[in-house]
Amino acid sequence: MANMGTTAGQSELSARAEELLASMTLAEKAGQLTQYFYFGMLEGVEGPVGDQPREVQAALSRGGAGSLLFVSDPAQANRLQRMTIEGNRLGIPALFGFDVVHGLRTVFPVPIAMAASWDPTMVERAQAVAAREARAVGIHWTFAPMVDIARDPRWGRIVEGAGEDPYLGAAMAAAQVRGFQGGGLGEPERVIAGPKHFAGYGAAAGGRDYDEANISTSELWNVYLPPFRAAVEAGAGNVMTAYMDLNGIPATGNAWLLGDVLRARFGFKGFLVSDANAVRSLATHGFAADLTDAAARAVNAGVDLEMAISDPAYAHLEEAVAAGAVSVEAIDACVRRALEAKLALGLFEQPYVDEERARVVLADPAHREVARVAAQRSAVLLRNEGGLLPLSTERLRSVAVIGHLAASKRDTLGPWAFDFDLEETVTVLEGVRARLGGVAEVHYAPGVRPAQRMFPSIFDMFPGNVPAVPEGFDDEAELARAVEVARSADVALVVLGEWQNLVGEQASRSSLELPGRQLELLRAVVATGAPVVLLVMSGRPVDLRWAAEHVPAILAIWYPGTQGGAAVADLVFGDVAPGGKLPFSWPRSVGQIPVTYSHTTSHDPGAQGERYWDEPSTPLYRFGTGLSYTTFSYSDLSVDRDQLPVGETLTVSVAVANTGERAGDEVAQLYVHQRYGTASRPVRELKGFRRLHLEAGERTTLRFTLGPDELSYWNAAAGDYVLDTATFDLWVGGSSGAELGTTFATTPAVAQAH
Ligand code: GLC
Repeated sequence: MANMGTTAGQSELSARAEELLASMTLAEKAGQLTQYFYFGMLEGVEGPVGDQPREVQAALSRGGAGSLLFVSDPAQANRLQRMTIEGNRLGIPALFGFDVVHGLRTVFPVPIAMAASWDPTMVERAQAVAAREARAVGIHWTFAPMVDIARDPRWGRIVEGAGEDPYLGAAMAAAQVRGFQGGGLGEPERVIAGPKHFAGYGAAAGGRDYDEANISTSELWNVYLPPFRAAVEAGAGNVMTAYMDLNGIPATGNAWLLGDVLRARFGFKGFLVSDANAVRSLATHGFAADLTDAAARAVNAGVDLEMAISDPAYAHLEEAVAAGAVSVEAIDACVRRALEAKLALGLFEQPYVDEERARVVLADPAHREVARVAAQRSAVLLRNEGGLLPLSTERLRSVAVIGHLAASKRDTLGPWAFDFDLEETVTVLEGVRARLGGVAEVHYAPGVRPAQRMFPSIFDMFPGNVPAVPEGFDDEAELARAVEVARSADVALVVLGEWQNLVGEQASRSSLELPGRQLELLRAVVATGAPVVLLVMSGRPVDLRWAAEHVPAILAIWYPGTQGGAAVADLVFGDVAPGGKLPFSWPRSVGQIPVTYSHTTSHDPGAQGERYWDEPSTPLYRFGTGLSYTTFSYSDLSVDRDQLPVGETLTVSVAVANTGERAGDEVAQLYVHQRYGTASRPVRELKGFRRLHLEAGERTTLRFTLGPDELSYWNAAAGDYVLDTATFDLWVGGSSGAELGTTFATTPAVAQAH
């Protein structure tokens, strides 16, 4: 197990695991490797869950399960833990996992939003709070961070990750693992981090969730794998295997991917879990002949735990052994890793949680403050013509807040939130009202009804997941009323985007247009002549071509979480300045996908953007873009050596100044381009960034280092990482369009004097 503390601790723990293993029957081993969903939170809720909870309890009572997920009530966790311990001969406790992806009771901005902060320190702090709340209720392990690179925003799960870039993705992956796990797995108030979904899930064909991913060697190693490698190097105790076929072989049955790459090459020492039913699905893929074969293939590939809703494939492991399809030794290797995780967490000594303390921890007001700051720092200012923002409250008498999303508590939290407290969730409307109380009138109009999906979401079984259409909602009348509310206001804050059930898992789209009649509403509000601020509530880029031309101020607020509305008011009225940057290239239209800043020059580049004859092929907003309420300048860019022997590092320094009238945050970004070598390399690659705060007029000097970690890459022909001798360009600035540049060259390694 990674991060196991002292070797003495490790050897004692291993000895205990061996002792348990030696006395287990094959059936008990299969039970230990089985993880069941437990939809206890839905007990009594009519619908698909049915009597699944009772089936699971029966399995616990016969030692048929070693782990559960979706339990977040401490009393229920204690009850199920007791059932587990008493249900197996050796009294082995259960491991409880859950999707604590962006908070548990305190919900943080969705992960794509936190990535947009470009602030690993803040992200680590947020995930540490999430871990504290999770552990307090009896959750030992989170299925997070989701580290799938996503360059196709039709794929709804882009919301769960850190966007398009491997360097930013790796930084966010490592920060989240540190936040969840702290210094090691035995620490109280921490949980095991489970980066997912290994690997290449974000490259689903056509952006269609669950569809196959066909990824070139170069892209797999240079784009999709680096965040996983960073998470493993940060000590992640678990990794979850992905659903889909990767280059024709299901990730969950892929011995090369899980063995050669993850364990051998990246040095992963923790335990693996399949995604939900992904072992059973090896038969669906047409990879395994039946469930017995599926179980054998998964264990042989190194999948330790099978996450199952019902009828697990690992229940067929005894048959698989009898058929000679899998060895007891292979099964023992999986059980050993599972036992070591439980021993590392101290579950044998302390399997239960303190239910009273859980209530105190979940109510900690300090957690809400962390969430408010996270939402402030995640927002990205995309447009601010004429400096409309920040709004000055002195001159405001009436403010219109328009859009159903402005008043929707559930949507403010975003997808992958389950154990929240809606009452304490602050919507944009509530945040604005609280901020302007008594200073100006605030008038709200939904304007349009929520858009509907073509098919239900798997999350619809959770109450409130589908936004309700108010009884008797009259579309035309409501549209007209919203226009009137805007017309009579000094400014209109229009909240548009996607309802949270339209993004995330099983929420791919064939277009990026604003769902429903939102664009019609926006055009009608703009036509009143009232100044308009567009607040985009989404987890992916949406088509803003019209808004980019006609709406003076556009702020991406994402799904900002429990304190979201308060943070949005802080930003809109200037208590804090936005400092976020885009973690992806924002396409003009769905037709451009995939669009990334980090492409090769390829043939006949022509003028940037001349590929389609009917639309520029540059994005609407480039990767790394984000405005502030002030301005920044970059100067004095230099390298401490312009000849760099392969294997050594150079230092880049640059001055950054706040040249505006007010304080603000900037994210200085460093990009490199290898001009030639043994492969064509991207025109730019992010290889360093720093978020910094500067007072008006303040100037500072930043330093970055570039060495083998930043300059080597996986070369498909060599089948390995290489670092070429070549000339490099480098730029530093406030986006991927950074213009201040210099060059250096890598030279043959210098033999080290002995
Ligand atoms: C889901 C997701 C995965 C999640 C798991 C448990 O289907 O693919 O990300 O952790 O099942 O909820």
